[in-house]
Amino acid sequence: MTKPAVRVAVTGAAGQICYSLLFRIANGDLYGKDQPVILQLLDLPQAQAAVGGVVMELEDCAFPNLAGVVVTDDPKVAFRDIDAAFLVGARPRSKGMERADLLLANAEIFKVQGGALNEVAKRDVKVLVVGNPANTNAYITRKCAPDLPASNITAMLRLDHNRALSQLAAKAGVSSADIEKMAVWGNHSPTMYADYRFATVKGTPLPDLINDEAWYRDVLIPKVGKRGAAVIEARGLSSAASAANAAIDHMHDWIHGTNGGWVSMGVPSDGSYGIPEEIVYGMPVVCANGAYEVVAGLPVDDFSRTMMDKTLKELLDERDGVKAIVG
Ligand code: NAI
Repeated sequence: MTKPAVRVAVTGAAGQICYSLLFRIANGDLYGKDQPVILQLLDLPQAQAAVGGVVMELEDCAFPNLAGVVVTDDPKVAFRDIDAAFLVGARPRSKGMERADLLLANAEIFKVQGGALNEVAKRDVKVLVVGNPANTNAYITRKCAPDLPASNITAMLRLDHNRALSQLAAKAGVSSADIEKMAVWGNHSPTMYADYRFATVKGTPLPDLINDEAWYRDVLIPKVGKRGAAVIEARGLSSAASAANAAIDHMHDWIHGTNGGWVSMGVPSDGSYGIPEEIVYGMPVVCANGAYEVVAGLPVDDFSRTMMDKTLKELLDERDGVKAIVG
């Protein structure tokens, strides 16, 4: 018997990330090949025709499990009865726009979308905020969706996690699949802190295998932080396929579990690791039974404290910058 369809909302549907993401979801990379999916696509009124073109291409793939597509510019239509939401659409920085104005423009968007989720989404909806500034946009969404479980609103650090994994694996001469217990802390921005202190490869500590602390601190950490800019420099466009891939990884692992493995997610802090409650901060988590749990009790040495506080300060500044909108 065919399973009932799950409903997945995706915003920014006419954009570059969605040009990869939607096809991955429809192909079964998120829920599996035996699970029908209905896509509920949101974009601005002026982007509706472009979304229509993407829908034609989805149809032309003849995905067996794509059970329906809704296209709308109304968040309350897009989010009705959804099981999962990828909040990708966001206001990009236009020429001459100040950072503070960008923060506020996005705060307005995520305030409206948080309110709509609160009103019409399933009560256990899983939300992933991709649109930048992702952590603070997730913070706003959560503030504006008080009736949903706070822990169900998350931000994407997985691209940073995957970037770090790939660079570390290349340096150590191993497969990225063999690296366990790597973490990325903090903001999805160049201040994020890729932490390999607990990482192992088949039981051997990764720092011992690499045996080059200067490379780790002076090359790896800044390289991962600036990777997005390097892609833009080379491609003339921002990361899209890798961002879509990371979004699938994040949501897939949250839904299906990580078998005890660590992944990095931006989650509302419970106050642990000296991060004030509610700040959406990248942390190592383990996923099981449709939920995630922050890896508790890890030691924080002086270097880590400095790195974690630096990225926290940026998030506190962003939070202060949106106070006028979320209080
Ligand atoms: P894009 O500019 O190609 O597409 C954005 C889409 O969002 C456009 O179709 C636009 O019309 C739509 N949009 C704007 N405001 C909207 C609203 N209020 N409601 C619904 N749709 C709206 O951008 P792209 O490349 O797809 O990136 C999307 C976002 O993801 C950007 O903010 C980007 O910075 C961010 N990003 C985040 C990453 C992460 O690791 N967290 C990685 C890469 C990108």
